[in-house]
Amino acid sequence: MQKTLGAALLLLSCTFGFTQQAKQIIIDTRNLALVFSIQPNKKVTQSYLGNKLMSGDYSKISGGGEIYPAAGMEYQFEPAIRMLHADQNPSLELQYVSSSGSRQENNVATTNIVLEDPVYGTEVILHYTSYYNEDVIKAWTEIINREKKAVELTEYASSFLHFNADEYWLTQFHGDWAREMQMVEEKLTNGIKNLESKLGTRTNFYQTQAFFLSLNRPSTETEGEVLAGTLAWTGNFKYTFEIDQRNTLNLRSGINSFASEYFLQPREVFTTPEFIFTFSDHGKGQASRNLHRWARKYGVLNGSEGRMTLLNNWEATGMKFNETRLVELFDEAKNLGVDLFLLDDGWFGNKYPRNDDKAGLGDWIEDSTKLPSGIGYLVKEAEARGIKFGIWLEPEMVNPKSQLYEQHPDWILKLPNRPENYGRNQLVLDLCNPKVEDFLFNTVDRLLTENPGLAFIKWDCNRSMTNQYSPYLKERQTHLFVDYTRAWYKVLQRIRSKYPKLPIMLCSGGGGRTDYGALKYFTEFWPSDNTDALERVYIQWSYSYFFPANTISSHVTDMGKQSLKFRTDVAMMDKLGYDIRVQNLSPGELEFSKEAVKTYKRVSNVIWFGDLYRIESPYESDRAVVMYVNENKSRAILFNYHLNTRRQDIFNRVKLQGLDPAKKYRLEEINLFPGTRSIQPDNDKLLSGDYLMKIGLNLSPGRTNPLTSNIYELTEEGARF
Ligand code: GLA
Repeated sequence: MQKTLGAALLLLSCTFGFTQQAKQIIIDTRNLALVFSIQPNKKVTQSYLGNKLMSGDYSKISGGGEIYPAAGMEYQFEPAIRMLHADQNPSLELQYVSSSGSRQENNVATTNIVLEDPVYGTEVILHYTSYYNEDVIKAWTEIINREKKAVELTEYASSFLHFNADEYWLTQFHGDWAREMQMVEEKLTNGIKNLESKLGTRTNFYQTQAFFLSLNRPSTETEGEVLAGTLAWTGNFKYTFEIDQRNTLNLRSGINSFASEYFLQPREVFTTPEFIFTFSDHGKGQASRNLHRWARKYGVLNGSEGRMTLLNNWEATGMKFNETRLVELFDEAKNLGVDLFLLDDGWFGNKYPRNDDKAGLGDWIEDSTKLPSGIGYLVKEAEARGIKFGIWLEPEMVNPKSQLYEQHPDWILKLPNRPENYGRNQLVLDLCNPKVEDFLFNTVDRLLTENPGLAFIKWDCNRSMTNQYSPYLKERQTHLFVDYTRAWYKVLQRIRSKYPKLPIMLCSGGGGRTDYGALKYFTEFWPSDNTDALERVYIQWSYSYFFPANTISSHVTDMGKQSLKFRTDVAMMDKLGYDIRVQNLSPGELEFSKEAVKTYKRVSNVIWFGDLYRIESPYESDRAVVMYVNENKSRAILFNYHLNTRRQDIFNRVKLQGLDPAKKYRLEEINLFPGTRSIQPDNDKLLSGDYLMKIGLNLSPGRTNPLTSNIYELTEEGARF
């Protein structure tokens, strides 16, 4: 048997009693295998998903659920696909036609499986890209209309997977504004559980589109079989978990077909978004590390590169600022030592100046009262101080009080015969209209061409989509949700082909857009408007399940009651930024913050590109401990947060993970507040990885110090960084 990396297409003779030949398609990575069998009746079934067999021989397992079950014939559960043919026949039969494999690079291969309806010719091509080293698979589907007239798709999954276990445990992340990523785990029972969004824009507002599915029992950080999945789509999504009469779990992932019947013209191809998943039999920690490694290399723009530290003015000034005040803030940014100043909302609008959220959205021209010398002047002033300048935009939206609204009332999503429905006093533009697409691209392009030094954009989206009617789509209203998202990607592709490297932060009224469909074009995202450091420990912990640290923007702000030290330690766990009034810091606090920025720059490579080990969960105890270890295990950064408010709490020693047992590491507490000393008994000691992982460290705050935090650096003996 030929053994290959990545996807392999194998033709196996059946050796246990059948007379006909059985075909299998094996998609594998370093540790995983996804095996499909081609049945005598030309149906393709999923025979296996799990850890790879050493022999690579799956010929003894040949059954399983259909790879992409279609509605209308014998299948009566939730289908992967449902369509009405041109003659209104609502059935589809998908039979195997061919399969092929191709290698994109040593580590990446794609398998394509072509299915076809023998009567109507409908073609469905299932694609699986496998990432060998990262143990990640990306699945998506193309549906092609081979009829002479349009067909109607009413269900069109990205992928469909089957599981056989005694129990299924689903971990989901739901929330609201400033309460993002609340983790809930539950046992699934027979019937259907959906995780979905119908919000159109800001689609993760209430529900994040990433989940864990644990098999047999809830997985922990280090134990248990678990699938981590997420859909690369910034629009309505839906996961259906259906447990059937045989206790098989069928998982459908894809665009939410709610109000989204899609009419496909002859020869037109409907391409679904990608469902990205990994599987680990060593718990959630390994699943996260797989996704992080994949994301940095393949999922996020400039994922393997560094990020800029910044000072943002949103929480410090809101929309009340002028040119002089901003230039003062540049001095503060320089003093702090960050790389960039980010000017937030409120810099634009003239006929309707943006002094609050009631006016100006859509008019992307500098407010001549606040900024008489324009953006170009600000860029130059920032550069003169050795820092870069970035700007906030919300290009998809419009306030009724704006010139854009007056000039282009037909560019806006709104229902005929109904009053306009507002969210944050604004409406969503009709991106289905190519003129609006051009407007978005031109807005960004003009700003970047007129101000060549502009070095960063924060792209916001502050409302979900009501008024669900596109003046442009006319009789094809059910295409709105899908076409809007596709058009948004087209704008981003245009921006990226002209500005491939520019860092852009994805923001959506906090964490309303956090998905890998968008992160292809963005370097980082804003997780939540809640920057209270205590809350952020939970929020950032949850995001860390699916996203690497260099994508999770975390800013030190004045929100919450925690000390500056605690707030800084939390922000340093991910991508550090500031949104504070630097002038209000005491001399000691300023000195501490300047040192913190320097320290962060010194250690950020380990945080951004290291492997993450979540050691103590804030969801399970009154503390959180996380650790990043660099690739060759010579350096690690350990974060320790005490979330208890009681002085008598007792904490056990913490056994570290991910180190090399044979190496010796020097432990050093870093980021100490000026004038304080480490109370860590093992500080400055040389300890073996074996000791640190078997005996561990006492990370107790001492009896008198609840709500404290520490950062430790572990450096291999003799190594220099
Ligand atoms: C949203 C963002 C904030 C800020 C404001 C500006 O709420 O999440 O960070 O940019 O918009 O209006």
